[in-house]
Amino acid sequence: MNKPLQKNSLQWKQYFAKNASTDNTTLWSLSDVLTADEKQRIQASLQDFQQGEYSEGKYLMRYAQDFAAAHQDPEYVESITYFIREEQHHAAVLARYMVRHDIPKKSQPFLDSVFRRLRRLAGLEFSIMVLQVAEIVSEAYYSALREATGSRLLKALCKRILQDEAAHLRFHAERLALLRRQRPAVFRSVGHLAQRALVYPSLLMVWWFHARCFKAGGYDFWRYMLQCHQVLNRAIEYTRQLEQSESLSNKVLKLYEDG
Ligand SMILES: [Fe+2]
Ligand SMILES: [Fe+2]
Repeated sequence: MNKPLQKNSLQWKQYFAKNASTDNTTLWSLSDVLTADEKQRIQASLQDFQQGEYSEGKYLMRYAQDFAAAHQDPEYVESITYFIREEQHHAAVLARYMVRHDIPKKSQPFLDSVFRRLRRLAGLEFSIMVLQVAEIVSEAYYSALREATGSRLLKALCKRILQDEAAHLRFHAERLALLRRQRPAVFRSVGHLAQRALVYPSLLMVWWFHARCFKAGGYDFWRYMLQCHQVLNRAIEYTRQLEQSESLSNKVLKLYEDG
């Protein structure tokens, strides 16, 4: 197997297991006043993101199993299993919040079905690239949602999800680097360009469908694009440095911690 990256699969499995055991029940006793105006502004996007967070991850799991078998890395399958459960947990948390406020669940949103179809197209690497798009959007979305409400509970839930999503970005970035690090530099650069080509059109579609919630959180289009652009740049730079690095330095780690 290739040299482990910043965290190897076992370490990621341990991270996810520890994260899953964190007790968040006290959050639900925080004050939770969602005004009618706030509810109106966030409801549609909350319904969509709640649906988007839930996936059984069948294709991703199959790709991860193939990768694990080829690279003798069984812990990767376990870490992916935890990752899928963590996203399902986000869906469950949002669903619980929606029940509290009489916000009904929605059938699968259009944008979500596009992302799901894309993920099935071509193997682990492409699946992870599509997942990265969702992680980048999530970082801006939950930041906006947190600002769009005075509910201390909803703010705390967003903060918790944001912490998870930041780790997901690293988890995926590290695996992309592992998948690509043996390739010539020009092909690695093509990978980064392809990532950008996936992200920017997706950002426009997300804004089209969810501008109302972003605006309620104080985001205009350019603030939203700039934040996503910066998150994307950080993820690509992290992957790029890991691809080139034999033994990973604190400098590489710092890139993320400082961001
Ligand atoms: Fe999530
Ligand atoms: Fe995520």
